Amino acid sequence: MKFFIDTANLDQIREAQNLGVIDGVTTNPSLMAKEGITGRDNILKHYVDICKIVDGDVSAEVIATDFEGMVKEGEQLADLHPQIVVKVPMIKEGVKAIKYFSDRGIRTNCTLVFSAGQALLAAKAGATYVSPFIGRLDDISTDGLNLIAEIRLIYDNYGFETQILAASVRHTMHVLECAKIGADVMTGPLSSIEGLLNHPLTDIGLEKFLADYKKGN
Ligand code: E4P
Repeated sequence: MKFFIDTANLDQIREAQNLGVIDGVTTNPSLMAKEGITGRDNILKHYVDICKIVDGDVSAEVIATDFEGMVKEGEQLADLHPQIVVKVPMIKEGVKAIKYFSDRGIRTNCTLVFSAGQALLAAKAGATYVSPFIGRLDDISTDGLNLIAEIRLIYDNYGFETQILAASVRHTMHVLECAKIGADVMTGPLSSIEGLLNHPLTDIGLEKFLADYKKGN
């Protein structure tokens, strides 16, 4: 399973990249705003800065909600850097735009997906990635991980190549469960990745090894 980090914070992206287990970055307009990145030119520059830090795919989201606007923005985003994947919302015009991009070899990430039907449409349109938001489903008492399992089943039934990018991952258990179900990618905060490191027996064991080494040296 690929690990993407879900942030527009350059320090966190650097830290994740230095850990050596990061395969890409996802952003969204809210994450950009959180870092104080506003204005079209600054946003475009920020995407390029992110691409310079990581080796893998970087999702950059369109703001337009009409077909022509999405195509114009998406082509501009894709031209910024070869690592850019155009992030398009799961709306009717978005499905048309994904098909348009897919026919022209421009990679897409279909975002704001909350049902298996939406994921099926994204795959039919040729999306490179589909992003089901599991944390936001959990927030409304709906099983987000079950959606990942449903999409896995449907995509495997028909051999769809669209990669399941489990998004809105909030913690380490989401990461582990996504890996068990067979999500292709997960995107979450750095804490959801670094949390995988922790086990008290590791800390106790290391402390004992070091203490025993010191006794003999
Ligand atoms: C995915 O691409 C989104 O940026 C993200 O995962 C949303 O997560 P949130 O529900 O924690 O805002």
